[in-house]
Amino acid sequence: MNGPSRRRCLDLIKPYEPGKPVEEVERELGLSGVLKLASNENPLGPSPKALEALKKDLDRLHFYPDGNCYHLKRALAKEYGFSPEEMVIGNGTDELLSLLALAYINPGDEAVTVDPTFSEYTFALRLMGGVPRPVPLVGDDFSYDFAAIAAAVNERTRLVFICSPNNPTGTVVDREELAEFIASLPSGVLVVLDHAYIEYVAGSAHPDGFDYIRQGRPLIVLRTFSKIYGLAGLRVGYGLAPAEVIADLNRVREPFNVNTPAQIAAAAALEDEAHLARSLELVEKGRLQLAEGLKRMGLKAAPSGGNFLFVDVATDSRKLFEALLRRGVIVRSGDIFGFPTHIRVTCGTEEQNERFLQALQEVLR
Ligand SMILES: Cc1ncc(COP(=O)(O)O)c(C=O)c1O
Repeated sequence: MNGPSRRRCLDLIKPYEPGKPVEEVERELGLSGVLKLASNENPLGPSPKALEALKKDLDRLHFYPDGNCYHLKRALAKEYGFSPEEMVIGNGTDELLSLLALAYINPGDEAVTVDPTFSEYTFALRLMGGVPRPVPLVGDDFSYDFAAIAAAVNERTRLVFICSPNNPTGTVVDREELAEFIASLPSGVLVVLDHAYIEYVAGSAHPDGFDYIRQGRPLIVLRTFSKIYGLAGLRVGYGLAPAEVIADLNRVREPFNVNTPAQIAAAAALEDEAHLARSLELVEKGRLQLAEGLKRMGLKAAPSGGNFLFVDVATDSRKLFEALLRRGVIVRSGDIFGFPTHIRVTCGTEEQNERFLQALQEVLR
């Protein structure tokens, strides 16, 4: 083809490898009843209140969405006490990561990440010609090494990504350690605190980031409706940050980036306390059930604050992933995170977890 050559920064981007969709596996392997525990989705499904709210407004789809997400922002304001000027809503948190790179990364600028972590940070950076500086997590429990992260910050650093609970390891950062780290940062650096899984974290030792925002410090908290709220298919994420940061993101945001059903469902889901409580309880039980089942097989998962476990299966995880697929169970193979003997498995219902454990046992035999 005689078309234009692609931008050079794209040479460094590998297309995202998503968790395999159920229908694709069923089609390709001629199976039915396939179980997906690969994308940290909510096995209870969407919030029933969200589904109810969606039905009411479907006759308004000929109108463009509200580009300012008025009702959703008010629902979030009620929940968290921030003003709409301190909020940005995105077509999933994924979009917000791209907006951050569009707003703050010039070619050659750097951002500190950890390794392993969510791949979309690197994707967004590379897209703008930015340079990721990954700092390895340490030990069997994949802890954040804040001294090493601080040492990786230099005059070219614009963003630092802190994912807590971290995907794929489940690591939760400590409030005090994060506070010390933030206090040590030079000016000109924005901390991105990705809280996609924060609703699953037990206890209160973890940071919520809210005080920094109230103080007007350079930090953005990212949250999503894709996980505990069960709305991954609608694509809604949000960011809470000082108004100056939000104003920068609004300069690069498309005008109608969040569709109408997504806005309606997200606002309703936020108030669905029963669904939230059920979803949390399921994950708390699921983490224990999976950990106990793995222990019986002599396997150990890293301590996880999320709705998933990262497990060293002590064998080629790609082969194990394929063997599990043939038994109709989809997990995530650790090789995509640079951990070729690990898998990441999402907590399902009690029955689903049992089915996964049985399939794993058969495969390991
Ligand atoms: C840590 C983390 N951040 C962000 C996202 C993206 O979420 P969303 O569905 O809102 O784009 C994910 C999705 O898996 C994730 O694991």
